[in-house]
Amino acid sequence: MRNFAIAIDGPAGSGKSTIAKKLSEILDIDYIDTGAMYRAFALKILKCNININDISSLNKVLNSTIIDFKDNHIFLDGQIVDEEIRKNEISAGASDVAKIFQVREKLVEIQRNISKDRSIIMDGRDIGSVVLPEAEFKFYITASIEERGKRRYKELIQKGYNVNLNEIIKEIEERDRADSTRKIAPLIKCKDAVEVDTTNKTIDEVISEMLKIIDRRA
Ligand code: C5P
Repeated sequence: MRNFAIAIDGPAGSGKSTIAKKLSEILDIDYIDTGAMYRAFALKILKCNININDISSLNKVLNSTIIDFKDNHIFLDGQIVDEEIRKNEISAGASDVAKIFQVREKLVEIQRNISKDRSIIMDGRDIGSVVLPEAEFKFYITASIEERGKRRYKELIQKGYNVNLNEIIKEIEERDRADSTRKIAPLIKCKDAVEVDTTNKTIDEVISEMLKIIDRRA
């Protein structure tokens, strides 16, 4: 098959990154985690101690920031920041910077450039709707809020963080609300996307469901 793109969108904690990464290994194509890019910029803003409402300072930082996603690693100004961007305060920060037009414009351009001339699997919130509207395959991955909260809770506990399940669920709900109601590139299920609910399903079950769809249309 010639080059193709798989766009995966969905709310926080739906399992899309785990699924996209695994699919990329099976299909032997590159994977881009666009959420990691928004997280990396949120980390930069935090490090520079900038108020995100100060658009002029934010633009200066944005223009001098280099963000890349390569070989399953997120690079901020040439440094791998895979671990730092997963901290809880960065999740909310990412959702805040993701509302800003200039930030989206820059990151979408990087994402489109990376996906030129190769097969790609990309996950995020606006991949099927904005970044890769011509993608051959579009999926919308969901799960119940309780399941998503539990997954995130388990992940953070395993990393040694002291967190509370109810607070995690509240944070995810708030992030979903912000992501789906923002003016620019809100999280939506595209008309041509196949919805996959991962609640009570193993990763392998979800992967095989998606591979069947990809094979059928390939
Ligand atoms: O996917 P993840 O939860 O790591 O993304 C962090 C945040 O980045 C999201 O809550 C969302 O606000 C933002 N994001 C976005 N568009 C994308 C990917 C992520 O707005 N394509």
